[in-house]
Amino acid sequence: MKVQSESQVVIRPARNIRGSVTLPGDKSISHRYGMLAGIAEGTSRLRNYSSGADCASTLACMRALGVSWKLNGDGEIEVEGRGPALAAPSIALDCGNSGSTMRMLSGIVAGQPFTSEMVGDESLSRRPMERVIQPLSAMGARIESQQGKPPLRITGGALQAIDYKMPVASAQVKSCLLFAGLYADGETRVEEPLRTRDHTEVALRAFGGHVERKNIGVGSEVRIRGGQRLRGIEARIPGDLSSAAFFLCAAALFPGSEVTLPNLLMNPTRARLLDILMQMGLRISVTQLEEIHGELVGSLQVEGGKLKGTKLAGADSAALIDEIPVLAAIAPFSEQGIEVRDAKELRVKESDRIKAVAANLRLMGAEVEELEDGMKIPGGQSLHGAELDSFSDHRIAMAFAVAALRAEGETLIRGAESAAISYPAFFKAFETLAER
Ligand code: S3P
Repeated sequence: MKVQSESQVVIRPARNIRGSVTLPGDKSISHRYGMLAGIAEGTSRLRNYSSGADCASTLACMRALGVSWKLNGDGEIEVEGRGPALAAPSIALDCGNSGSTMRMLSGIVAGQPFTSEMVGDESLSRRPMERVIQPLSAMGARIESQQGKPPLRITGGALQAIDYKMPVASAQVKSCLLFAGLYADGETRVEEPLRTRDHTEVALRAFGGHVERKNIGVGSEVRIRGGQRLRGIEARIPGDLSSAAFFLCAAALFPGSEVTLPNLLMNPTRARLLDILMQMGLRISVTQLEEIHGELVGSLQVEGGKLKGTKLAGADSAALIDEIPVLAAIAPFSEQGIEVRDAKELRVKESDRIKAVAANLRLMGAEVEELEDGMKIPGGQSLHGAELDSFSDHRIAMAFAVAALRAEGETLIRGAESAAISYPAFFKAFETLAER
């Protein structure tokens, strides 16, 4: 790989993938711990906090809300919790590229008796916020937006608990409402149509909160009482499984690959990718399983085999929403190809990920059928190197670095610096694994 300028990389094809990578802390957990540590009482020490720019946005917003924190070296963040009452910000809360920051933090600022302005970059400014505006308004917050999009101006205060059935399965919306529920009078109940990642429920318990959840068919309900006090924790955040997905899929491309990923998050609501990759032919073994603050962590050893195809729909598409771009990027090299349905949410992520994946695969010479809610990518195709674009989307930049490993010739990825949104050291780690 050559880093040609700050914004583009060139990936050469590889013969094999071998080695070990330690992943930065999980992005979803880092956001939640960063926010909860701020509204808890006492000090929290968070080791292996995500190095991604998104989680730095969360910490910057917390600082603007009066929370003190410092870096202790070795990636440990020490946060001085303020308790539930934050300080009125004198600047806009800049969420950068991070939908998680804006959506989840809006639940906390909705409980504060002042006005906060939440802004984001160009991509975030295009993303739908109605999904949090509507239920937070029903709880009593006053919210102004640009036709349901950022910037948001939230005037919070006394909130009423809500019983809310989410129309879209979204962990961010669920988390927003559980956070707002902490500030509300009464018991808030959130029902999700499909089970989404449960890090907020797990984290709230880790910080001493009480949350009840139960399955309802393929979905679930979560209940939280207002007025609870949280206390700070000491934690090591497990490695990000969605970042590991790029190495797992790279390993799946080579029958002789051997990759070790220590200290990885294994939360069952996030680990569906492992089942799918095993069905597709990757051999995976897990050792050193342990539970840290309710989150399952383990070390993964993976070996490539023959790559089979798969079909993703329904609950699988929701569970794999962040991993679909990289699964799609390896799809042409599989025997039967990959079909993805029920993944319309991909259109409103950091980029329109269905469009971005289809455009890049086509530039590499692949046949792709784009669907409104997914895509069909036939297997048994060979790709050639091309000049691709990241669409300013971290997961698109990293997904196509993986596809480039099996292409004929070099692939140039413009806007590769987007990887830093979740994984600044990605290309460096990637190169240590590639054998040429
Ligand atoms: C996230 C939830 C998902 C995911 C995002 C992170 C989270 O979004 O795509 O990258 O940390 O809760 P939705 O909840 O909107 O589906």
